[in-house]
Amino acid sequence: MANKNVSVWSSISFWRRSAAWVTGFAAILLVWLTFDSVGQISMGTDADLQKAVAEKKETRRVPAPTVINYKIGYAMDAKRGHEVPTIGEKELFFGKEWSEKDAAALLHLGKLTSQAKNCMDCHTLLGNGAYYAPDLTKAWLDPNWEKFMYFGQKTKEEGIAYFLQHPAKSGVHTRKMPNLGITAEEAKGLVAFLKHMSSIDTNGFPRNFSKTVNQFKTGGSNAH
Ligand code: HEC
Repeated sequence: MANKNVSVWSSISFWRRSAAWVTGFAAILLVWLTFDSVGQISMGTDADLQKAVAEKKETRRVPAPTVINYKIGYAMDAKRGHEVPTIGEKELFFGKEWSEKDAAALLHLGKLTSQAKNCMDCHTLLGNGAYYAPDLTKAWLDPNWEKFMYFGQKTKEEGIAYFLQHPAKSGVHTRKMPNLGITAEEAKGLVAFLKHMSSIDTNGFPRNFSKTVNQFKTGGSNAH
């Protein structure tokens, strides 16, 4: 029996209808957001990358594996209010320029090795993992590599590969990384993986990693 004086807030059918509308709207929003995110995080191609470098425009958020053939920087973007990766001129990586196929294979090896050796047990990669050891998302850009003169190796990539194979000997922090029995080939793959990861636009994540702050002095994210 309907009572005209009953307030709408106590009407069951009002709440039922509202619930149906809110659920429907949220479902559509989630589907849209999912497609948007997948678009944002899917890897670009070598053609995208070359075009972006030639036109000095922003690349895809996740550049192609061939980004290992370029210098990666980290620069303040005043409009966005944080630092973003920059892709500069070409540089050799382990003494050569990598084809699209070889770069993808090397990156794949690095990713598999990072999973097999469980780097995330101690480190964080793109927001996943632990904080026992430094965040690896931007580890390629860590000024400590230069500071420690690549542990006597000629280039940064060789220095990091050396570190990964002799971590206790060459560590820069008080907490030491164990020797995980990483082979030379796996180390190469891991360095490609780290370099590629540093080129991903992560909206300034991790927040406490900065190229403009001396990490070593201030004990920032990369100096636990
Ligand atoms: C058992 C814990 C542990 C595991 C597993 C581990 N690490 Fe580490 N790692 C550390 C610690 C501790 C440090 C800091 C040591 C230092 O700098 O002397 C470190 C430092 C590093 C650094 C130097 C970071 C920087 O910016 O200074 C890199 C690169 C690195 N690890 C890569 C890796 C990779 C790649 C893996 C997987 C293959 C891995 N680690 C697995 C503990 C670990």
